[in-house]
Amino acid sequence: MIFQRKLKMLINHDEIAEAVKRLSHEIEGDYQDKSPLLIGVLKGSFMFMADLIREINLPLELDFIRLASYDAGMVSSGRVEIIHETSTPVTDRHVLVVEDIVDTGVTISFLLNCLKNQQPASLKVCTLTDKPSRRMVTVPIDYCGFTVPNKFIVGYGLDCAQRFRNLPDIYILED
Ligand code: IMP
Ligand code: MG
Repeated sequence: MIFQRKLKMLINHDEIAEAVKRLSHEIEGDYQDKSPLLIGVLKGSFMFMADLIREINLPLELDFIRLASYDAGMVSSGRVEIIHETSTPVTDRHVLVVEDIVDTGVTISFLLNCLKNQQPASLKVCTLTDKPSRRMVTVPIDYCGFTVPNKFIVGYGLDCAQRFRNLPDIYILED
């Protein structure tokens, strides 16, 4: 049972807050005089997005897309599907995709291709965490909070079978 598995603290909420500040300031500097459209990938990015945008002093817009790449638990299905589309047109917009984690890269590269087809003015990626050891597809990451080890992590939006999203810190889910 996942509930009985041990959680080992990896990144505490103070470290997360510091990284969120750093990223938001970088974004604010890079998008001066622009009105970027931030697209969060649900569900994992909701907490990161909420904290990130409160630190960005720009006339930004917000939308979400819901994709599925992991069926349940910790094994990737290898397929990506759009479950819920964005409602904002992205053509000619400065689009910044906000992710919780880039793991194999399959999800984000699928999304970037979909968005590119709609011809945004620019397209960048901001991820809270990056797990480069598992990468299968090369993806450009413009803003990254933390590089994480090849472990399954939960908390601060990240789940295992829909659990643990509410934790304020990020933990390694131990076997
Ligand atoms: P990718 O397509 O392999 O890059 O996986 C992307 C998605 O898988 C992420 O947006 C997460 O939802 C999920 N994922 C990958 N690694 C982890 C993890 O360590 N913890 C929780 N979710 C993960
Ligand atoms: Mg995600």
